[in-house]
Amino acid sequence: MDMSLPYTPSRVGSKIDPLRIAVFISGGGSGLSALLKFQTKIPRSHQTVLVISEDPNAGGQIYCEQNDVTFVGIRLPNIPDKSLRRLTHEEKIEVKLAEFNVELIVLSGYMRILSPSFVKKWKGRLVNIHPSLLPEYPGAHAHRDALADSATVSGCTVHLVDEGVDEGLILASEAVEVLPNDTISDLQNRIKIIEHKLYPQIIDDLCSGKIQL
Ligand code: GAR
Repeated sequence: MDMSLPYTPSRVGSKIDPLRIAVFISGGGSGLSALLKFQTKIPRSHQTVLVISEDPNAGGQIYCEQNDVTFVGIRLPNIPDKSLRRLTHEEKIEVKLAEFNVELIVLSGYMRILSPSFVKKWKGRLVNIHPSLLPEYPGAHAHRDALADSATVSGCTVHLVDEGVDEGLILASEAVEVLPNDTISDLQNRIKIIEHKLYPQIIDDLCSGKIQL
């Protein structure tokens, strides 16, 4: 029997009262850029109010400057014990999320694993994109693993975040062909093109109530 907790969805957003999103990034933020473009094209039922990274120099903060969105870099605290370090880091994140009245967290290239207590609190309001067709190739090296496996197809998956790593209810996925001489970056770039269309659309469907949990 599945003893895990149910998903508790966010309210449905509207153009006059958009759902308040925090995007978590770790690096370049091309996915963040795609979402911000999507949100500024026409009024949407969601808006990005906050971007958080564990790296205060994350490249993606340029998109926050360009779009007038608050970027907050929260470094990992200097605490030797790993689990205490993670919990203390997440407590600082929670303070910011509360300050900005965040209603939905969008992981977009966020390379840290969130603690079970954080996931439990946000379950149903925490969404991720992973660059493979889950459950194939979970973890931090999806493209490397797909190539090492001589996969002919990979892709990307949008899912709600569960207690497991790259697990949780799948909302959408899209396949991408792996070509014979692909390098990791060839495959990554080809998958990102699809991610940048799929993720904003699924976030939109979730926030507007088109996807119901
Ligand atoms: C994206 O391809 C995303 O799917 C992947 O990191 C990339 C971030 O790119 N996420 C993961 O691997 C999470 N396990 P970006 O920083 O340019 O948006």
